[in-house]
Parts: sequence; structure tokens; C-alpha cells
Amino acid sequence: ARVMILNGPNLGRLGVREPEIYGHASMADLERAAAGWGSDRDLAVQVRQTDDESTLVGWLHEAVDTRSHVVLNPAAFTHYSYALRDAAAQVTTSGLLLVEVHLSNPASRESFRHLSVVAGIATGTIAGFGFDSYRLALDAVRNKLAA
Ligand code: DQA
Repeated sequence: ARVMILNGPNLGRLGVREPEIYGHASMADLERAAAGWGSDRDLAVQVRQTDDESTLVGWLHEAVDTRSHVVLNPAAFTHYSYALRDAAAQVTTSGLLLVEVHLSNPASRESFRHLSVVAGIATGTIAGFGFDSYRLALDAVRNKLAA
């Protein structure tokens, strides 16, 4: 099965950005780790990152059209982008899995991070485990596909 790991704004700055919250590893490190996790789980994994909302919306359309499951870290779009939510809804309503992931635990941070407008249409959410959030999301996809 195919899985697109899609990352929203500022996540290209991982390693440099607020390392006390997001850690010292970079998006390139995540790409390398995800390639290994994918091959261990027999999943064809692609990692992408953009700061641009319309690009992210387009990638979600592409996921629907190519029958790819999605692991999505919407970053700040999580909290207010109805366009992203509507695009993500097309993934799950077409029978594909979409796991919302966060490196940090937004529920334990500022109140504006407590709302996710994406959560309600996601298959499920994993937050608070750093890079491990992504690995756990791939486990969830593999287990759900095998169930
Ligand atoms: C984040 C949490 C968001 O609140 C924040 O805007 C991000 C990263 C996370 O992975 O912890 O950019 O999605």
C-alpha cells in the first residue's frame, strides 16, 4: 500500500525551530527514518513538506486520485484551515486512512492549539511522541489494513 506523509508549514525548519519542543532532528532525518519504517512494514512511503496551504490541499487530492493513505501533520493549519479539513475529508470518505500526527502534544500547550479542525474527519490522531508519532501512525495504518 502507498502512504503519503504530508507535513505543513514550518516543519521544514525541524532541528532549527524551537528544538526544546520539536527536537534536534531535521525533516531530512525524518525522511530517512520513514523510508526504513516503510520498508519494514511493506508500505511505499513518501515524505513531503510545504509551507503552502494550496500545495497541501493539492497533495490531499493527489492522495485520493492515487489511492494513497495519508499521515498528515498539518502543523498550524491544524487549528484553523477548513480548506485543509475539507481536502482531508475527501481522503477518509473515499475509504482511505488518514492519521493526524503531531510531534508535540497540542493539548498540553497554548489554548489556540487545543482545537484541531482536522481531527473530526481523521481516522485517528497520534500526538506527543516526536518522530515516534510518525512511526506509530505507520503501525496504525499497517495494522488497520491487515485487520
Ligand atoms: C505541530 C503542533 C502545531 O500546533 C504547530 O503549529 C506545529 C507543529 C506538532 O507537530 O507538534 O507547527 O503540528
